[in-house]
Amino acid sequence: MPHPLEQLRDEALRQIESATDEQALETTRVKYLGRSGSISSWGEKMKALAKEEKPVVGKLLNEVRNAVTAAIESRNAQFHLQKESGALAKIDISLPGTPHEIGSLHPLHQMHERGIQIFRRMGFALAEGPDVETEWYCFDALNTPPDHPARNEQDTFYLSDGRLLRTHTSTVQIRAMESAPPPLRVIASGAAYRRDEVDATHSAQFHQIEGLYVDENVSVADLKGELEFFMRELFGPGTDVQFRPHYFPFTEPSLEVYVRSKALKRGEQWIEVAGCGMVHPAVFEAVNKARDDKAYDPEKWSGYAFGLGMDRLAMILFDIPDIRLFAQNDLRFLRQFA
Ligand code: PHE
Repeated sequence: MPHPLEQLRDEALRQIESATDEQALETTRVKYLGRSGSISSWGEKMKALAKEEKPVVGKLLNEVRNAVTAAIESRNAQFHLQKESGALAKIDISLPGTPHEIGSLHPLHQMHERGIQIFRRMGFALAEGPDVETEWYCFDALNTPPDHPARNEQDTFYLSDGRLLRTHTSTVQIRAMESAPPPLRVIASGAAYRRDEVDATHSAQFHQIEGLYVDENVSVADLKGELEFFMRELFGPGTDVQFRPHYFPFTEPSLEVYVRSKALKRGEQWIEVAGCGMVHPAVFEAVNKARDDKAYDPEKWSGYAFGLGMDRLAMILFDIPDIRLFAQNDLRFLRQFA
């Protein structure tokens, strides 16, 4: 003869099976498993049992409770599934969806990718720094004294806390050298900001790729070779590159780079595209001071640095007449580079 608990179990399982909705199922659950449910009440009844009966009935009670609970859960899951497939059946999957416009990379972004690709082949690693900088990284560490015109409020965007929008990516030179000893070969790509009068070739936000190479016996010949190679990779073998003497506080000697390429529509005249030079010993000394060591001993190490104007390079490469087009977000312009 089956134990009364087993009878209760079979009865519960039959009711669960025949429950037609969630509410009927819940009623069944309360009836058998609720606080004063008929299965639960066996917990009380156990107390009156003989000592040797207790473990046997206890085990059975557990099994019965588990079996009924599992049956309720699986019936509940069935109800959920029915509900979901009912909702799905109402969706007309033959209706056309909402089309997504496919975007494309901005021409400046494409320019950066091309530039980075060429430098990577030459062994440069990628470095980076923030757009909002301190005067130390933008000027002091780069041998630019407080009275230098570049630090003037007319030329630089200052924040009220004394920080500023970097006026060039040369800030990353300092950050890279602070965080790693020589030899070092890095590029950094990003935006720079100046209070320039906006016209066809000047914008308050422009973009640069900065390069820095520090090693033993680095010379101007290395610098010129690298940049000439870069320009010819970018614009083609018929590209002329010219270096003109210039002045930057953080390089000595300093040079400006001009390119001309008969093959390019916008490349017939010499166009200034970069500043560069040999890292000034004072820059190495500033880095040493910040690092609190002598890692960049100017007697032992030398290096070159450059800053390429990516907007200008893109204008030449893609034949773009006005720098303002980059920021106007006009789809007629952007679609031409998709
Ligand atoms: N930072 C300079 C500029 O923005 C360019 C430059 C970079 C010059 C590195 C020399 C060395 O004009």
